[in-house]
Amino acid sequence: MDVIRVKNADEGGKKAFEIIKDGIANGADTFGLATGSTPETMYSYMIESDMDFSDKVSVNLDEYVGLDGNNEQSYRYFMDQHLFNHKPFEKTYVPNGKAQDLDAECQRYDDIIAANPIDIQVLGIGQNGHIGFNEPGTSFEATTHVVELTESTVNANKRYFDKVEDVPTRALTMGIQSIMKSKKIILMAFGEAKAEAIKGMIDGKVTEDLPASVLQKHDDVVVIIDKDAASKL
Ligand code: F6R
Repeated sequence: MDVIRVKNADEGGKKAFEIIKDGIANGADTFGLATGSTPETMYSYMIESDMDFSDKVSVNLDEYVGLDGNNEQSYRYFMDQHLFNHKPFEKTYVPNGKAQDLDAECQRYDDIIAANPIDIQVLGIGQNGHIGFNEPGTSFEATTHVVELTESTVNANKRYFDKVEDVPTRALTMGIQSIMKSKKIILMAFGEAKAEAIKGMIDGKVTEDLPASVLQKHDDVVVIIDKDAASKL
C-alpha cells in the first residue's frame, strides 16, 4: 500500500482528484465511486475542474434497501447532488434500492460490474473497517449482496437522518471480490474515528473481521489519510 499523509480532508480530496486526473490521462474511463462524507472534497475538486466526464462511466458501491433515487437520504440522490448534476457522466450506475427482487438486482449489478471493469475504485472506510457495506465477517469472495447493517454503521450514519429509527437497516453492496478486481484503489480516511480501522487495515493481519485488511493483497492501493486517521500507526 502506498500511504500518503495529508493535512486535512481538503488536501486529501485534492490528492485523490489528482490521481483520478492522472488516471484519465492514462486511459481510465470507469470509476467505482463511494458516498459518505469522506469523498466530498474530492467531488468538489472534480466539479471545480474544467474536466469533462461525459464519456466516463461510474459504478457506485452501494445503496440503502427501500430508498429510491428521489429520497434525499439515498445514495443515488447523494451522487446526483455531489457530482453528476454538475459533471454529467456517460452512464452512472447505483444499485436499485427499490428493486422488488433483491436477488435479481444483485445479479443485475454483478453483470453491470462485469461489463464495466473498474479502472479506479474510490473507497472510504467504516469505523469497523467496512468497505462499501461489506461489514466485518463478510467473505472476501462476496459479490453484490444484501447486507444487514451493523449497529455501529447505523449509528455512524444516523447523522444524515432525523432519528436513528429512520436509518435503513439493510443495504445492497458491491462485494469485496468485485472491489478487489478494480485495477487501482484509492482509499481515503479523515478523522480520529477512523484511526483504529486504519491501523488494522495497514498493520494488522488480513482477516474478514476487518474487511479493509483485504486491500493488503491488492497491488495498487493508495491510502490517503490525515494526521488524526494516522494517529494509531
Ligand atoms: C459509502 C460506503 C461506505 C463509506 C464509509 C465511510 O458508499 O461505501 O463504506 O465509505 O461508511 O463513511 P464516511 O465517509 O461518511 O465516514
